[in-house]
Amino acid sequence: MSRDAPELPSEPRPRHVAIVMDGNGRWAKGRGQPRAMGHRAGVKVVRRILRAAHKAGVEALTLFAFSQENWKRPETEVKLLIQLFVRTLAREMDAMHRNGVRVRFIGDRSGFPEPLRREMQRAELRTADNAGVKLSIAVGYGGQWDIVQAANALVEAGEPITAEGIEARLQTAGLPEPDLMIRTGGEQRISNFLLWQLAYTELYFSDVLWPDFSELEFHQALAWYAGRERRFGRVPEAS
Ligand code: IPE
Ligand code: IPE
Ligand code: MG
Repeated sequence: MSRDAPELPSEPRPRHVAIVMDGNGRWAKGRGQPRAMGHRAGVKVVRRILRAAHKAGVEALTLFAFSQENWKRPETEVKLLIQLFVRTLAREMDAMHRNGVRVRFIGDRSGFPEPLRREMQRAELRTADNAGVKLSIAVGYGGQWDIVQAANALVEAGEPITAEGIEARLQTAGLPEPDLMIRTGGEQRISNFLLWQLAYTELYFSDVLWPDFSELEFHQALAWYAGRERRFGRVPEAS
């Protein structure tokens, strides 16, 4: 848990880690509690893993907090999640700013209430010049939507559709591609997260539910990553 002071795993370390924070609902259900409790517990883990990523020298952290498809959940759950985002932003912003975190939100914000959109923008402006961890929080995000909006931006600018052009217009433009994607909660799927960006990402699936995900488990993922041979279509190094 957060009391762990595990040793940092070996190198190479990922520059950019993307995480699908899944399993809040099941965590709560397992305790006979409403799903809301799982989401509240999940928020605390964000702080823990952000700190762990910083300590491990990770440059960029992208967290999937709310997908476009999550709008299909019952209205009460959606409302609760939005409330939780607003409160968490208000509570955590000072500390994040102090720690040099640069916060950005990626996704389609149009469905969110105006006060939340304002808070998101405020957080982005306030932390824009920070030189610490580049934290991207995906809310209302869909990987297909991201590619479509990038292509549309190119069309509107009268530019040809090229891979470089799309990359430059994706919501993650300017960040290195994710080296490691972690999905907690046992499901082995992408669920419309970063589709374009994950082309060559190493994929790590953990059965641990997000509210239980610890610094130790994060380090296990980093250690697993360090043992991967990334080939990008080439032949192995030694041959
Ligand atoms: C992930 O946990 C958080 C969000 C998608 C907002 P879930 O709410 O999907 O939890 P499970 O998968 O039902 O356990
Ligand atoms: C993916 O989790 C989205 C987030 C973690 C925000 P879901 O729980 O929504 O994914 P599915 O529905 O199991 O694919
Ligand atoms: Mg889920």
